[in-house]
Amino acid sequence: MTRTIISTGKAAPESTFDLRTQLGSLELQSPVLTASGCAAAGRELDNYFDITAIGGIVTKSIMLAPRSGRATPRMAETPSGMLNSIGLQGPGVESFLETDLAWLQRRGARTIVSIAGGTADEFGKVAAKLRVAGGFDAIEVNISCPNVEDRGQVFACRADTSAQIIQTVRRNSDNKIPIFAKLSPDVTDIVEIATSVSQAGATGVSVINTLLGMVIDTQTMRPVLAGVTGGLSGPAIRPIAVRCIWQIRSALPNVPIIGMGGVRTGQDALEMVLAGANAISVGTSIFNDPGAPMRIQKELEQELRNRGFESLTQAISFAHREVSEAVIEDETGESKDESEPDWDFISE
Ligand SMILES: Cc1cc2nc3c(=O)[nH]c(=O)nc-3n(C[C@H](O)[C@H](O)[C@H](O)COP(=O)(O)O)c2cc1C
Repeated sequence: MTRTIISTGKAAPESTFDLRTQLGSLELQSPVLTASGCAAAGRELDNYFDITAIGGIVTKSIMLAPRSGRATPRMAETPSGMLNSIGLQGPGVESFLETDLAWLQRRGARTIVSIAGGTADEFGKVAAKLRVAGGFDAIEVNISCPNVEDRGQVFACRADTSAQIIQTVRRNSDNKIPIFAKLSPDVTDIVEIATSVSQAGATGVSVINTLLGMVIDTQTMRPVLAGVTGGLSGPAIRPIAVRCIWQIRSALPNVPIIGMGGVRTGQDALEMVLAGANAISVGTSIFNDPGAPMRIQKELEQELRNRGFESLTQAISFAHREVSEAVIEDETGESKDESEPDWDFISE
């Protein structure tokens, strides 16, 4: 790791803070995005804050045909999180292009379109329709879908099937479009999957999707969700997300990472940035605070200023530095070796 200098004494001037981030060829003015499935196409959120003022909107995963999703109940509260089994309800790609994508374009929001499918062929067809339509900035490929041609095995759980989907989407997309593979944490070795999708043509990875969970109602003594199992999200999963980001960043230093999983505050977002995320998606937090993406963006900026960073980029992967090599300037401007932790940074 290169030698790094941060200053604890001087905060960057108010108006010039640089939150820009780079996701392959895509530059965003801010790293804060919405997480797929938690804000539809951003239209409702626009009533709470200006959606063009955050990094961008990641849309709900769209499939080829309309889908009504799984039976209800399909949401359950869990300690510090929630379980959902929505089942990719959606209007299908044609309607999405005419209504949601057209609206996002008119609104001028940075847009990452999330796509899903039950077969490689379906992923390819959705990507091809997007290529013809244009008007978006990147694709996020939700590979946490059951493969209908292989006993419902989730694509994201195997390196070869993950790569197959990414290759198909890449072949059917404009080659300038950044493609992000959305990975499942329900695997033994997430680095293996991240490596495989990168080699297959993904620009970067989005980590993490929900973890498979289940809740039983002890009164009825039956599963709470009609679909029995569901995806666990929210603060309960954040340490898992941070671990996945850290592992991928350690193995693949140059792969852009969109981090997500239980981000509720600017400090949570900073944790993911320090682990190696180039951008952060906010999901479950939106359900009890629709203004969360904007609030988190402001809080993240403040957290960065408080630590003396002058840009977001300086903080990306900062936790990976060799502690003995870090040099911190104190208030007098003098450098000191920081092999000891700086207790100013540690709050109880
Ligand atoms: C209700 C709900 C619906 C979701 N739908 C999608 C989806 O359509 N596509 C997708 O890739 N991820 C979907 N996710 C996963 C989120 O995008 C995110 O990866 C996950 O929830 C972790 O982030 P969070 O804890 O901030 O919500 C959904 C999550 C929730 C809670």
